[in-house]
Amino acid sequence: MASDGTDVNGDGAVKRRSWGGLLSGSLSAKFIVTVTPIFLGVFLACIVIETWHSYEKSRAEIIHRMNTLAASQSIILAESVADRDTEHLSLMLASIISEPNLIGIAVHDKDGNVLDSFGTLDGAEPDFVKTISVNYTEGSEVRRVGTLKLVVTDRNLREEIRDQLIEHTVLGVMLLAAALAASVFAHRRTVTKPLGKLVSAINESRGDALEKVDWQSDDEIGRVIAAYNDMQERLAGYERELRASRELLEHRVEERTEDLERAREAAVEANRVKSKFLSSMSHEFRTPMNAILGFTQVLQMSPDIHDDDRLKDRLGKIEESARNLMALLDEIMEFARLESTTNDLHLEDIDPNTLIEETVTMVAPLAEARHIAITRSDEPRPAGQVRADAFKLRKALFHVLSNAVKYNSPGGSARIGCRTEDGYVRFEITDTGPGIPTHLAGDIFEPFNRLGREAGNIGGSGIGLTLTRRLVESMSGDISFESEEGMGTTFVIRVPAVS
Ligand SMILES: Nc1ncnc2c1ncn2[C@@H]1O[C@H](COP(=O)(O)OP(=O)(O)OP(=O)(O)O)[C@@H](O)[C@H]1O
Ligand SMILES: [Mg+2]
Repeated sequence: MASDGTDVNGDGAVKRRSWGGLLSGSLSAKFIVTVTPIFLGVFLACIVIETWHSYEKSRAEIIHRMNTLAASQSIILAESVADRDTEHLSLMLASIISEPNLIGIAVHDKDGNVLDSFGTLDGAEPDFVKTISVNYTEGSEVRRVGTLKLVVTDRNLREEIRDQLIEHTVLGVMLLAAALAASVFAHRRTVTKPLGKLVSAINESRGDALEKVDWQSDDEIGRVIAAYNDMQERLAGYERELRASRELLEHRVEERTEDLERAREAAVEANRVKSKFLSSMSHEFRTPMNAILGFTQVLQMSPDIHDDDRLKDRLGKIEESARNLMALLDEIMEFARLESTTNDLHLEDIDPNTLIEETVTMVAPLAEARHIAITRSDEPRPAGQVRADAFKLRKALFHVLSNAVKYNSPGGSARIGCRTEDGYVRFEITDTGPGIPTHLAGDIFEPFNRLGREAGNIGGSGIGLTLTRRLVESMSGDISFESEEGMGTTFVIRVPAVS
């Protein structure tokens, strides 16, 4: 805060303060407001006590002096009072009245009649009246001949004391003002100034590393600033370490990014080579396989074997195996294609009920051959559409529904249905088959894992569900299942609904 009542705020701008604000916002002002009444109170109490004490002392002295005067004068005046020598008495009283503080004096005879008097005799409080007997001694006889009355006032003393009080007060106020000014000055130098420096350092270094404060003293403020400077040094150290580790991290990220880029390029290249290999391998497989199929059919049509049932049966098996091999080849090719391509997705709005009907139609021959009934669940059909790739979703539903038919119990059934759930269309395919053993459930989406059915009489390559999951996930959907051994299995495929 500047001496003219202005203050430097956080952003260095100078603003003018009201006196109310000054008192609440400045340490010096608070110091003055707190200390002044205490100083003033103590000082006034001291002056009052000291003045009262000196008044009481001086008054006691006056009274003592008057008592002594009364005692001595009663002896001196005794003869004149006894002789009723008023002339002499007048002279004597005139000399006594000149005593300071004495405002009245009177001599009475033994009957109380005034023989002579001077000044005011009716002393009002706090004036002091002293009456003493005047005794005359004749030989051995002491006789009371009258009374001496002295009226004493401390008016002069009171005036003197009042002047003294005023003088002391003025002097004291001046001293107090000087002491306060000196205290404020010292307070500013030792408290306000270093605190101001500390506040400026904190405000100026907002956001950056903290500034150091240039201040040294061996008091509490000095210790606070030394601790602040120490903290500033440590923070600067941390800041340096942080910057260094950030740079190191950035450098590492760059290195890793380059490595990843190289790895990605290598993977793309490997994928290209793999696709090339697969397509040539597929071609290499298909050519002899087509030849096998073609010649088998030619042989089947040959009139030489018409009557040979054994040969016809064997030729039928060759044809079936060849077709199975071709189907397996197709699945492997599709799996490989899904692995290598991610964005050949043709999303459109599709009616899920139509999809279900198409799927049921596709699976119907298999179901018929195996005597499995396919039913449509009677839950309310969703009115909305599903956002998906029609070909891929149909294929996924086909895989799961054909599994429900394949892995079913004799005379069993499969049920398919769908409904809307939390922004998804949820397809449910339930069968009445033997179910999936709990300990094998974790392997079901693993490629080429048939959960121990390799030796059974149900054909398959163990890749259908792996493919299905890839297809569903490529459309931002998911697949899950619940199964109870001996009771059946329910597969759930969810794909985003059209919002
Ligand atoms: N509904 C089901 N009920 C019981 N087991 C099932 C069911 N669906 C799948 N499985 C088990 O999971 C295995 C893997 O199924 P997946 O469809 O991936 O392969 P697959 O049917 O054996 O062969 P394909 O590749 O021709 O579909 C199956 O071999 C079967 O053991
Ligand atoms: Mg299958």
